Amino acid sequence: MAHYGNYQTEIYIAGLSGRLPKLPVNFRDIEARAHAAMPPELGDYVAGGCGNEHTQDINVTAFERWGVIPRMFVGADKRDMSIELFGLPLPTPIFMSPIGVIGLCAQDGHGEIAAARAARHLGIPMMASTLSVDPLEKVASELGDTPGFFQLYTPVDRGVAESLVHRAETAGFKGIVVTLDTWITGWRPRDLNRANFPQFHGHILSNYFSDPVFRSSLPKSPEEDLPAAVQRWGSIFGNPLKWDDLTWLRSLTKLPLIVKGICHPDDARRAIDMGVDGIFCSNHGGRQANGGLAAIDLLPGIVDASGKTPVLFDSGVRSGTDVIKALALGATAVGIGRPYAYGLALDGVDGIVHVLRSILAEADLLMAVDGYPRLADLTRSSLMATR
Ligand code: GLV
Repeated sequence: MAHYGNYQTEIYIAGLSGRLPKLPVNFRDIEARAHAAMPPELGDYVAGGCGNEHTQDINVTAFERWGVIPRMFVGADKRDMSIELFGLPLPTPIFMSPIGVIGLCAQDGHGEIAAARAARHLGIPMMASTLSVDPLEKVASELGDTPGFFQLYTPVDRGVAESLVHRAETAGFKGIVVTLDTWITGWRPRDLNRANFPQFHGHILSNYFSDPVFRSSLPKSPEEDLPAAVQRWGSIFGNPLKWDDLTWLRSLTKLPLIVKGICHPDDARRAIDMGVDGIFCSNHGGRQANGGLAAIDLLPGIVDASGKTPVLFDSGVRSGTDVIKALALGATAVGIGRPYAYGLALDGVDGIVHVLRSILAEADLLMAVDGYPRLADLTRSSLMATR
């Protein structure tokens, strides 16, 4: 079996002929390079968090409060990073988290297509956002055999919600991920200071503008009257869901239903009792509420409450080491967000592939060096709290 860690051998061998990696392999340098290359308002939109960004920052630094305990005499020369998720065999435990502005991050303005192509290349699932430059059908068609998940921002208009879910099913997505924490936008100073909200310009709304139910609610098409279509979008975008709505959401699809934004064990238990297939522990990368808790610190409670139900995790994951720690704390699969947006901004499909391969290489080499050849070997007792 090829090991993801072999990426480093490729890099060193290329160095013998004087070739350096086109992009840095670590997040901090990629982030800096991407910010120099991206339009400043887009860079800020991607980088920005809520309030003074304390939650966003500790999402990242909280990983440092855990250390992986090295084990020796394990002979971890063969590692296996594969998992099964909702019956799908996957080569690795990572996936691409949904990013509403990913389309805009590409130099050609079609970032979902690039992300889907990178997903296809690596066999790593992509979660396609409801907010999108290109319609979900086009994104799905680029995925090939790689599973994609459709992330739903549930509109208030139930007809539009149902239409989006059915379109996602027909397009071949393998699960519906309902985001719970973004029916209203959190207080984001970087965007507010620039008065920048891409949706109000009509950007990333193609899933709505291409939707027959949405279109039928407009007196004129979005092509004829964009401001009216944007206004209608604004009036239906955010649904402050209550528990009763989950019964309706569950009834919409036989696909795995995953609820994203779950941070309290009671919420996980109740959602599972109501028939969801997956719990997604996330605080939206700190973009939505500056509540002061790091998502990784909430993960163990969610895992304990979820029993056999898979727990997906994102928020603050920047490296392969972070992935390993989240897995050891009980995540079934780990989402990567901003790192791949920056890889895309710098080098399109290749940039995303490079970022994901770098993360996987670091994870694989950590498993090798620290003696954890299988993901099942990674448990809470593989970690020690450093403070
Ligand atoms: C949308 O999901 C955002 O975080 O901006």
